[in-house]
Amino acid sequence: MTSPRRSDDGTVGIAILGTGGIVRRSFVPAVKATPGARLVGVLSRDRARARAFADEVGIPEVYDDLGVLLKNPAVHAVIVATPDAQHEPQVIAAADAGVHVLCEKPMTATPDGCGRMAEAVSRAGVTFAMGYSLRFLNTIRTIREVAQGDALGRVWYARALWTSRTPAAQETWRTDRAQGRHWAIGRVGTHVIDLYRWCFGEPVDVKGNITRPRDGGPNDELSTVILTFPGGVVAELTASVLFPGGNSLEVYGEDGALLARNVLGYGLENPSLTVKGTPVAVTPNNAFAEEVADFVRAIRTGTPPLSGLDDGVRNVAIMEAAGVR
Ligand SMILES: NC(=O)c1ccc[n+]([C@@H]2O[C@H](COP(=O)([O-])OP(=O)(O)OC[C@H]3O[C@@H](n4cnc5c(N)ncnc54)[C@H](OP(=O)(O)O)[C@@H]3O)[C@@H](O)[C@H]2O)c1
Repeated sequence: MTSPRRSDDGTVGIAILGTGGIVRRSFVPAVKATPGARLVGVLSRDRARARAFADEVGIPEVYDDLGVLLKNPAVHAVIVATPDAQHEPQVIAAADAGVHVLCEKPMTATPDGCGRMAEAVSRAGVTFAMGYSLRFLNTIRTIREVAQGDALGRVWYARALWTSRTPAAQETWRTDRAQGRHWAIGRVGTHVIDLYRWCFGEPVDVKGNITRPRDGGPNDELSTVILTFPGGVVAELTASVLFPGGNSLEVYGEDGALLARNVLGYGLENPSLTVKGTPVAVTPNNAFAEEVADFVRAIRTGTPPLSGLDDGVRNVAIMEAAGVR
């Protein structure tokens, strides 16, 4: 059994798997901004693409073979930001090599795959962080405090709608069953499921309606999930790729409501948040920088990250229970 990797000087060497949107926009700057982290390398299917990307964003080493990347002792951790179905083999290979993992959401395409990943991570004893980055946004922290606090009186109900109009032709892999089973619900709905779990605990009942009315492809275009939580809170969400972009979140208590628009996501235009009609100002922050810092802290201290294995496993199980097939 390989021991979890540690560096002599405590610096965490991080390699990134994937060269896509989230890596370019969020993870490269976040790792560079994290004290105690060092960006070591990047993996692509294509070495020339990896080289061009690495030169552009300033990453020293490039790989087109995960096995070779994992043999580099300077790699203590990986950030897995590839299509959902690839998370499973990549996370298992990393864990088996003693390499810590920050895995993008959703954990992978199937509940069985999540189970295999959880087994490998537990066996290896490496740190595993789930990429539920919204938890690191100040706005979402504030919403959670209000939902769990006294301001609204007893909370019974929440609902959210999150949509982005994404034609199938503009997607690379989310409509491809071999690369993932979640489209609208995996793009954005999974974040709301995580938010509800973070606020209200583990749901005791899951109902769902999953449809593909426009393109009729294999993966969901309009997904509604209704969760019932211990104590009776009901929370519903709709995720869609059919309508122009935007989102709303409402939390209702016996004494009033929290109403939010365009706060689910990063740097959205015209965000607003009111509690019982009073606007609440929240200082914007960089969720990904805080997520990577939390990952590095968890590795260094051997304590859990803010979002971990169970959050990944439970979330995919909820999407399955809602009807993703
Ligand atoms: N936390 C968040 O809010 C958030 C936001 C966006 C995405 N994500 C998650 O991050 C992961 C990546 O999403 P993304 O939006 O960055 O996707 P993307 O832009 O399509 O990038 C995915 C990357 O994976 C690599 N890849 C390997 N096999 C591939 C295949 N068969 N088809 C397409 N790409 C392939 C590609 O790099 P090479 O071409 O160099 O191999 C590609 O650049 C997903 O799990 C997604 O759910 C999370």
